[in-house]
Amino acid sequence: LSSVDVDLSPVKEGQAITVLWRGKPIFIRNRTKTEVEAAVNVDVKTLPDSLARNEALPADDPATDANRTVKGHENWIVLVGICTHLGCIPKGQAMGDERGEYGGWFCPCHGSVYDTSGRIRKGPAPRNLDVPPYTFSADTKIKIG
Ligand code: FES
Repeated sequence: LSSVDVDLSPVKEGQAITVLWRGKPIFIRNRTKTEVEAAVNVDVKTLPDSLARNEALPADDPATDANRTVKGHENWIVLVGICTHLGCIPKGQAMGDERGEYGGWFCPCHGSVYDTSGRIRKGPAPRNLDVPPYTFSADTKIKIG
């Protein structure tokens, strides 16, 4: 399947689901207000990777949280769940998972730490988690791809 429809309505604030798209795990998290604020209140210039890595935007757009989310749906973060170091699947989707010190995702393979926008903050991974192409087809429905 080249595109996947996902119903977000069962995913409560603070919860996450993982779906498959073109054989890749896609992380979807309904972020809390605190998680969104943490993602927004970051000076992009201080990030190891300052690029948005959002397939929907020009390649040189900065890694603001706004550039990694969809306007009006900023609670939702949608990411390709593959560590940009050597391709492990980071922890942080399941309840009780270690999420690392920035509250996002933690890759147990070599200790990469991602924030609540999926941006690399510490460890060997060179790039932010990719944002796949997706659109909201309704308030709680997305089409990936
Ligand atoms: Fe994730 Fe190495 S594969 S830190």
